[in-house]
Amino acid sequence: MTKYKSLSERREEQEDNAIERPASPSLNTLWERRIARRSLLKGAAGLGLMAGAGTGLTGLAGCDQKPDAPNFTFNFPEIAHGVDTTHHVATDHSADVLIRWGDALKPGLPAFDPHALDAQSQLGRFGYNNDYIGFVPLPYGSGASNHGLLCVNHEYTNDELMFPGLPSGDDNVAAALSEAQVKTCMAAHGNSIVEVQRDGKGNWSVVTDSPFNRRISTLETPIRLSGPAAGHPRLATSADPEARTVTGTLNNCAGGITPWGTYLTCEENINYYFDGEANSASEAENYQRMGIPAEHPYPWHRYVPRFDIGQEPNEPNRFGWVVEIDPLDPAQMPVKRTALGRFKHEGCENTPTNDGRLALYMGDDQRFEYAYKFVTADKFDTKNREANRTLLDHGTLYVARFEEDGSGRWLPLIHGQNGLDATNGFLSQADVLIEARRASDILGATPLDRTEDVQPNPLTRKVYFSLTNNSRRTKANLNGPDPRPANIWGQIMELTPGLDDHGSDHFTWDLLVLCGNPKNPATGASWNKNITENGWFACPDNLAADAKGRLWVATDQGEDWARTTGTADGIWGLETQGPGRGTGHMLFRVPVGAEMCGPCFTPDGTTFFVAVQHPASDGTEEFSGFERKSTFEDPATRWPDFKPDMPPRPSVLAIRRKDGGAVGG
Ligand code: FEO
Ligand code: CA
Ligand code: CA
Repeated sequence: MTKYKSLSERREEQEDNAIERPASPSLNTLWERRIARRSLLKGAAGLGLMAGAGTGLTGLAGCDQKPDAPNFTFNFPEIAHGVDTTHHVATDHSADVLIRWGDALKPGLPAFDPHALDAQSQLGRFGYNNDYIGFVPLPYGSGASNHGLLCVNHEYTNDELMFPGLPSGDDNVAAALSEAQVKTCMAAHGNSIVEVQRDGKGNWSVVTDSPFNRRISTLETPIRLSGPAAGHPRLATSADPEARTVTGTLNNCAGGITPWGTYLTCEENINYYFDGEANSASEAENYQRMGIPAEHPYPWHRYVPRFDIGQEPNEPNRFGWVVEIDPLDPAQMPVKRTALGRFKHEGCENTPTNDGRLALYMGDDQRFEYAYKFVTADKFDTKNREANRTLLDHGTLYVARFEEDGSGRWLPLIHGQNGLDATNGFLSQADVLIEARRASDILGATPLDRTEDVQPNPLTRKVYFSLTNNSRRTKANLNGPDPRPANIWGQIMELTPGLDDHGSDHFTWDLLVLCGNPKNPATGASWNKNITENGWFACPDNLAADAKGRLWVATDQGEDWARTTGTADGIWGLETQGPGRGTGHMLFRVPVGAEMCGPCFTPDGTTFFVAVQHPASDGTEEFSGFERKSTFEDPATRWPDFKPDMPPRPSVLAIRRKDGGAVGG
């Protein structure tokens, strides 16, 4: 029996570990060249971490300078850093709970009772740990901002906060979980499609009897495999010898909405779910590169044999993909788009190329992993949705390589080219996609500080990368986009496509901010010199862009929040242009133990949907006055209901400006 750890601890640990990989000559050579180049730049610029991009960090200044200018384009009273049992929003905005874990998605269900929860009941209700939020206006193409479909990921479950009566102590929780509880957890994973509407007073509500409302779950939803790896023997199992249909999707983190109104949901830390004795020598390197089996996995394999790699060695190859769901067609079978590669997908946001194709930007969130882009072979058509049905099956997957001079290239992951051939064990494009990480090693991609969301900014045409943190980065392996050792604060990188075209395989890059407390020189933080008292943050994660070209940053400090900033996660607006570039402004913060997720604007910018994930979970041992791990019976907060018989519930909120204007001003 493996030692049980809390779900958040497991997640932190998985993301904290870097997967060891063979030191290919190309990789070593690249490192040496980069380090040498950095030394040169450091001498020239006098400040190593600002040297990365020549033009880099323009407008940023030393962190001890006092603010001497107003807050530029933001127009709301900033809230203050802090941590307590509830959420906070700027005083001229409201933040209303729209839907919570367990809320009904169809009519006639009894009120949510966590004591009576089972898998069947959970399948008709909003799932756990909402992360990504997408909004598809209704009707399609209308651009409506008062009516639409919310597309929400349910990334994982906090078992210890979901079920009453579990024994105390993390070691005992996994051992105590029953088959019924494990299947309830499987039903709480996946996605929800939820019709929502705003009334004349501006208040949002769920349309409970909507025909669009839908749960996609790990427990039972059939998902079609498509693209170059579909039908490949490495994806075949005893239940699906043709390798065409997978049951469910796992650990869906961030995502995206396509121009034709489909929802892309990304499978991230899939290794948590697999255990057992590996008996497939041919998959050993693949397992190792993805961390399978996980050191502290969920106990699902005890009751569901497909999660035992000894019994189903290929089941892990059926997860780690981007899934396309049509929220406008409740009968549609979701599709795993294998052309976009298999790794620990964080998000998948898109923007058009100059010739009308689609570029999709993606991160692989683990220390020293990579950033990717997929460019479709064909143009998309927003007028004829059917024309896009196989668009994501054909195109080129690229991985990013960053140079010290501020340039970079997208390297194509194409079978038969640049060593991606039989000499390295790649017999087909399917092999390249199944092992996209190992293929990227061979091409000499740049290992980054955990790429979370990657967000194109339609107004500025730049792309923003949340590099959330990397405590394992050392002085020996610094590089331009990752300039700080023991980086627990993260940074935001800005990419400018070559020739102002997202179809280009060239780009330049810059660092927008180096996160952390600017008053603490030990952080090495770098912000606009006019950063305000509460305008800084750490550990950027999910991103959104607004109509003014500003970025909105949701943070996730994980278990270490008390040591990273000492305050809760939240959402900050961040200026990307003009004299305010690199200035943050704090709009919202979460209750203790939660992570900030979402966020998503309606087309008119007057509603900002945000997701509060795992309240009462992370780092409650360091929450003053509580100082212990939360359990179902004894949580650090009972947000958002604050009823004595209701546990904390992950929830989606609608933030609005009280005067009806655009959120953030
Ligand atoms: Fe699920 Fe990388 O956050
Ligand atoms: Ca994330
Ligand atoms: Ca995003």
